[in-house]
Amino acid sequence: MIGKVCGTGSCVPAEVWDNQRLAEMVETSDEWIRERTGVARRHIARGEETTVYLASKASMNALENAGMKPEEVELIIAATISPDQIMPSTACEIQKNIGAVNATCFDLNAACTGFLFALNTAQAYLSQGIYKTALIVGAETLSNLTNWKDRSTCILFGDGAGAAVLKAEETGIFAQVTHSDGEKGGVLTCTSRNRIDYENHAAAPETYMQMDGKEVFKFAVSKVPEAIDELLEKAQMDVQQIDHFLLHQANERIIRSVAKRLKQSIDKFPINMEEYGNTSSASIPILLDNLNRAGALEKGDKIIISGFGAGLSYGASLIEWQK
Ligand code: COA
Repeated sequence: MIGKVCGTGSCVPAEVWDNQRLAEMVETSDEWIRERTGVARRHIARGEETTVYLASKASMNALENAGMKPEEVELIIAATISPDQIMPSTACEIQKNIGAVNATCFDLNAACTGFLFALNTAQAYLSQGIYKTALIVGAETLSNLTNWKDRSTCILFGDGAGAAVLKAEETGIFAQVTHSDGEKGGVLTCTSRNRIDYENHAAAPETYMQMDGKEVFKFAVSKVPEAIDELLEKAQMDVQQIDHFLLHQANERIIRSVAKRLKQSIDKFPINMEEYGNTSSASIPILLDNLNRAGALEKGDKIIISGFGAGLSYGASLIEWQK
């Protein structure tokens, strides 16, 4: 059995911060941010727009797109590094909000690779015949974990959620490759220990996302093409047979570098980070939903999804668009 994507959905906060707004908060410029990252705007959660709120809306949109009722969902996996609470899980809260009363629910943390790991985990359950339908969600309110005084990170991130519904079918294409490198975890961190710096009466800096940008950049441009090559070999396919490469939307320069290394046209690499910034686990499902709703995906298209991020973790999965 293979899990096929039969619906997608997304939801982003209403409020939009453009680069100019950030230039009023830290020493930076619209020109620098666009040139170095490809980001022009990001959506920022306010008030009731929590991680669970965005995730639940995205999930409902995905179910509607799939033409399915919430009761039909048997598994919900929510990938997030910015849950509103430690417990209950984001997935259980989504279940409650959408009325997916028959689902087994849990969260998964693989940072920006979270949606990819959720897809692979759901596929493992579906291929074994344990469940027939799964809802996988990537949802983040990274604005809560962002140090808005640190120009090296605050320009990159945004909030949002994306979801996909998978249904088990007899035949189809799916292959996956994943890797983790805990030894290098120090280059991208955010701790929940000792939140308050009592001496300065402020949140301790390490409770916000901290990053060695150059090291993360080097990691991404070397490991993503490697994972894609490994995946193609595993699936016994040629890179030319792939119609779309959906990469985690972290930096446009990373995506351009991967396209070049794979000797593929950049046109095969859809990009939407200009509008949303890096939304971590939500970036790939938001992109998938944007493409689905724009009619940019044809039945039978071969799609490689590739994520990378904290852990360090990275990987690539191959799916066939069957919607
Ligand atoms: N605005 C203006 N200048 C900035 C700046 C900002 N927001 N952030 C850094 N700079 C400055 C630096 O201070 C440095 O100045 P200096 O040369 O006088 O010391 C200069 O710009 C270059 O900084 P550097 O850190 O070398 O820039 P970079 O080209 O590596 O770009 C990132 C920085 C963060 C955009 C880039 O490293 C990156 O995107 N890395 C990957 C991050 C990522 O994808 N993370 C998530 C993974 S899931």
